[in-house]
Amino acid sequence: MNDSLGARGNPAALAALQSRAYRDMSPWSARDFADLLDHPTALLTAQPHAFCLGRIIVDEAEILALATDPAHQRQGLASGILLSFLQAAAGRGAVTVFLEVAATNVAALAFYRKHGFDQSGLRKGYYPQPDGSRTDALLMSRALTQGHGPNS
Ligand SMILES: CC(C)(COP(=O)(O)OP(=O)(O)OC[C@H]1O[C@@H](n2cnc3c(N)ncnc32)[C@H](O)[C@@H]1OP(=O)(O)O)[C@@H](O)C(=O)NCCC(=O)NCCS
Repeated sequence: MNDSLGARGNPAALAALQSRAYRDMSPWSARDFADLLDHPTALLTAQPHAFCLGRIIVDEAEILALATDPAHQRQGLASGILLSFLQAAAGRGAVTVFLEVAATNVAALAFYRKHGFDQSGLRKGYYPQPDGSRTDALLMSRALTQGHGPNS
């Protein structure tokens, strides 16, 4: 686990990394990260230049934010932290993982599909854009059950 992002999460470092990485969505503030990390449902996996933050509620995991610093993308970092997240989520009893992603976020859609996520829903006009338009959100999910665990 990386020191600057912190074993239990450094809200300012996470917010700074996210603001460098996010293009299709508004980044969160350090306060937003602190509030999420304070909650006992939170699950954070991180490496020096990438993190995945989500929460576990009973048998459902939700990925809330995932980012790799632009200078370190396409080196497998997000794949590694996603695998750690899925393993930890399964260890805490999750059997399904959910997330939302902007329909225009080509990189994230390719990334999640490569890792076994399928579209499970659509939220029309979910994300507001700076120009006043709105972008659809795709809901994606994958199972974490036996025979379809985090390594498959
Ligand atoms: C999506 C994101 C986290 C991927 O991080 P990464 O560390 O570059 O991902 P990896 O190197 O592990 O990529 C694994 C695979 O995902 C796919 N992928 C990743 N980035 C891609 C891109 N820009 N275009 C197309 N496919 C991409 C590829 O299949 C890639 O495998 P390959 O490099 O062998 O072709 C990164 O692009 C990012 O931080 N984006 C901005 C934040 C964001 O959109 N987060 C998701 C919000 S839900």
